[in-house]
Amino acid sequence: MRTLRTRVAIVGAGPAGLMLSHLLHRSGIESVVVDHRTHEQIATTIRAGILEAGSVRLLVDSGVSDRVVTEGDRHDGVVLRFDDENHRIDFQDLVGESVWLYPQTDVFLDLAARRKADGGDVRYGVSDTAVDIGDRPAMTFTDSDGVATRVEAELLIGADGSHSICRRAIPPGIRTEWFREYPFAWFGFLAEAPQSHPELIYTRSAHGFALISQRTPAMQRMYFQCSPDERVEDWSEDRIWAEMRKRVNGNGFELNEGPISGAMVLPFRSFVTAPMRHGRMLLAGDAAHTVPPTGAKGLNLALADVRVLHEVITEFLADGDEDVLGVYTDRALDRVWKAQHFSYWMTTMLHSAAGATAFDIERQRGELSLITGSRHGAAYLAEAYTGWQHSK
Ligand code: PHB
Repeated sequence: MRTLRTRVAIVGAGPAGLMLSHLLHRSGIESVVVDHRTHEQIATTIRAGILEAGSVRLLVDSGVSDRVVTEGDRHDGVVLRFDDENHRIDFQDLVGESVWLYPQTDVFLDLAARRKADGGDVRYGVSDTAVDIGDRPAMTFTDSDGVATRVEAELLIGADGSHSICRRAIPPGIRTEWFREYPFAWFGFLAEAPQSHPELIYTRSAHGFALISQRTPAMQRMYFQCSPDERVEDWSEDRIWAEMRKRVNGNGFELNEGPISGAMVLPFRSFVTAPMRHGRMLLAGDAAHTVPPTGAKGLNLALADVRVLHEVITEFLADGDEDVLGVYTDRALDRVWKAQHFSYWMTTMLHSAAGATAFDIERQRGELSLITGSRHGAAYLAEAYTGWQHSK
């Protein structure tokens, strides 16, 4: 077995793991990052596309890339559509903030390129990864060249997604997990068509939720609420467009249609685990929490974790005080639970639940009217969607 030493061992080369490795590098702290996926696999996975202003600032200010501002699209609002009417929530007017449409895949490509240019040790396509979370934490894996390798470190970071092996290494008696399932999922797809609208449209309809998002002027991303056991093979292009039309067309609004690719069914759940730190191991991003995609919070929460984690790690490595690690969970969880609530709230406000009564449906309409018909209601959504820049 080949053994290496580094200061911080990071499992997971998604945006959380790479961003942390990058920030640590800028603070003069060496790390090794591993991922069982190849660079190609990560780069071709379609993920969400909305970045909060704070996430954009982190990417730009830490020198990851300017592409987010030169090639990303600034959105100053979103539309809530119900009863065939569009209601725009104007973020700039309400809270003086914006979000950026910039796909997670591009965030990954920018981070991966930056780490490579800075000589970072990032190993894709490793196998048999295991972690040792004792006082001298370590990760072991078979490198892509077939060599069994052990990386010993002062700290171990689990940024390894919702199936995290790091999370599962924490003894169950120590962990508390909160979990909520929803009786639906999203059917997502890419459409080669011109934009149907310059901003995102979140639609509640009698046939269920639909979301119109974008990727490029010629490529759009859309979703509609479906059953969790829906199979992509059962959906022809005609059937997909018929479903979308039923939910969003009407009253002068019509979708631009085109050839479909990248169809997938996205699972829908809310999950939080705590503590996010056990001894010398700390969790970040989906390894510690999952949100339903309705609030576009997943990637933003992962980056927010990393911002706190970077501070905690640099302080700990400077003076060796373990108490410093202890504050990580509470600092990260405050935002996590706000985002959990927001994602749950957006989801329940906009989706049709099987078995909903006439009362439930009218109440949902009342809720939407409260948000779109009141400056305070709209500001509540705007502040949360753009990422609580001006609150704690
Ligand atoms: C996307 O563009 O993929 C997207 C946007 C907003 C969401 C979820 C997904 O809430």
